[in-house]
Amino acid sequence: MGQKKLIKFAAIKEYENVLEYPQGMPGKWSAFFEQLALGSSPILLENLTIQPKVDSATDNREKQLTLELACGRGEYAVGLARMFPNQNFLGLDIKGNRIWKGASIANKEAINNVAFVRTQIEQVASYFTSDEVSDIWITFPDPQLRLSKAKKRLTHPQFLRLYQTFLKPGGSVHLKTDSPNLYQFTMAVINLFELTLVKQSEDIYKETNMDPRCAIKTYYEGLNIAGSNRIHYIEFKIDKVLPKQKDEMLKEIIAEFEVTETHDAKRERGMNKMAE
Ligand SMILES: C[S@@+](CC[C@H](N)C(=O)[O-])C[C@H]1O[C@@H](n2cnc3c(N)ncnc32)[C@H](O)[C@@H]1O
Repeated sequence: MGQKKLIKFAAIKEYENVLEYPQGMPGKWSAFFEQLALGSSPILLENLTIQPKVDSATDNREKQLTLELACGRGEYAVGLARMFPNQNFLGLDIKGNRIWKGASIANKEAINNVAFVRTQIEQVASYFTSDEVSDIWITFPDPQLRLSKAKKRLTHPQFLRLYQTFLKPGGSVHLKTDSPNLYQFTMAVINLFELTLVKQSEDIYKETNMDPRCAIKTYYEGLNIAGSNRIHYIEFKIDKVLPKQKDEMLKEIIAEFEVTETHDAKRERGMNKMAE
């Protein structure tokens, strides 16, 4: 491992705004962010209390928590935290050296309503209790173009079932991607499971009345790896039961899709090179 990466890994171990594989966090995020805002150090996770649930329709004391998945350097987590100082934001990614970037910016600018979790997205349901998260942003995830890897796409129903365990009723999933194939796949999931589609765009920057949140640009967005020169955006709800039997139907539907981008192995090699 390179020296720079080692330095970043060591740095995030000291940061209060980065948690690596934290244990016992469901229900405690509100208490965690209170301590972060107070500048407490160290924040002892075992001393945090589980907050009683409040009805957010009638009680606005609880700050909304938004999760950015595959956050990389955390441009959305940090950018949204700047835009909405009265809400809390959490970026989640497996790569500590990427998280270091967002966490360092937050520390430098004293943005104390954003934090990061280093873990695998497959574990995401173990970090939250039901209704703890208000919104999920999935920003430029790997499109996993090979059919055999479709289950790894972050909008596959297997992942949506995980998100459903902690997303508030009425909460949205926002996907921003440069991949026409991932966009088409996600639309197929939404249609098959009859989920509520709030917004779809095949070229978000061409939209009049674009949601200002969509203007935040990420590192991978700038790379234009898919070569489409268009940024796709979907906002949807996971507001239906997702029967597992339909996953087989999905397999058949997507087998018919034409893959218009270069092979993902090649794509991911390129990505890794560029991203380090
Ligand atoms: C293409 S990058 C996008 C990063 C960032 N959102 C951006 O737009 O610049 C995809 C990110 O997903 C993360 N990732 C991929 N699979 C993951 C997994 N199973 N668990 C956690 N993170 C994952 C990678 O580490 C990487 O940072």
